[in-house]
Amino acid sequence: MRLLTGLQPSGTLHIGNYFGALKPFVELSKEYSSMLMVADYHALTSLKEPSELRANIMHVVRDYIAAGIDPKKAVIFKQSDVPEHTELAWIFQCLVTVPFLELSHAYKDKVAKGLEANAGLFAYPMLMAADILLYDTDVVPVGADQRQHIEYAREAAAKFNTAFGVTFKEPKEKIMAGEVVPGTDGKKMSKSYKNTIPLFGTKDELAKAVMGIVTDSKGESPEHVYGIHRLFRADEELSRLYATNKGNYKALKEALIEDIDALVAPMRERRDTITDEEVKGVLRGGGELAREAASAKMIAVREKIGVTL
Ligand code: TRP
Repeated sequence: MRLLTGLQPSGTLHIGNYFGALKPFVELSKEYSSMLMVADYHALTSLKEPSELRANIMHVVRDYIAAGIDPKKAVIFKQSDVPEHTELAWIFQCLVTVPFLELSHAYKDKVAKGLEANAGLFAYPMLMAADILLYDTDVVPVGADQRQHIEYAREAAAKFNTAFGVTFKEPKEKIMAGEVVPGTDGKKMSKSYKNTIPLFGTKDELAKAVMGIVTDSKGESPEHVYGIHRLFRADEELSRLYATNKGNYKALKEALIEDIDALVAPMRERRDTITDEEVKGVLRGGGELAREAASAKMIAVREKIGVTL
């Protein structure tokens, strides 16, 4: 069974990303023939700063490897290295209607947030359909916000298969419902709320974020500290720790810093050993494997639509 997912190259990961998506994904990827694609052409819909895009691509690959994805087992590649993605996206765009694409929640949300309504952003779901369908993907692990995009991919496959004969497999989504991690203010941890604890931060950076967790001075147990701490220790141990240190918020925060550091220090150290050359080598090797599969598929597609003479 083939699994494929796309990674947004969008900067620094936090511990909410780790427990919500990264960790469940690492587990899942062990059971499938997995492909991880850096969606750099998708990123171009909103990012027009070459140095930032380049840095983000390097970042995301390094982070995923450090968090436990084995590049010898999973194919890690970037979208722009396989031109068949944009080629197939064009073909799908000629099969779906504008009103159909106008139903996209993601598009409407992004425009409402102030992103430019460029044509690439509008056609985004057809590039994503191409990413998935080129490789006969069975399962696509994504967050719940991506569900509609997988429906679009199924629809693109069905439209093509009806028009030109069965060519594409209809994929299924696997919603990554990992742990929802509260941020330093108790709301869901999210970059947009500025309440994150960095996954690959130094111990000092971790400490600074943890010391900033909002506590209420009346209670005996700091609820928001506990909410994060429960991801790092078994309930029973944690209850004991919080009972012994009733009202001593500083000691509890210090214990949390140690517990987070125990998990992330090995990943952080691993990450520091991964050189730029290694990242580029992984992407080069992955790109070659992906391209082999994608170009074989596109030979069939071009014949079916009638552009091969
Ligand atoms: N749209 C996805 C996101 O925002 C990223 C993505 C691009 C993707 N292509 C994909 C996800 C293919 C899964 C499969 O997270």
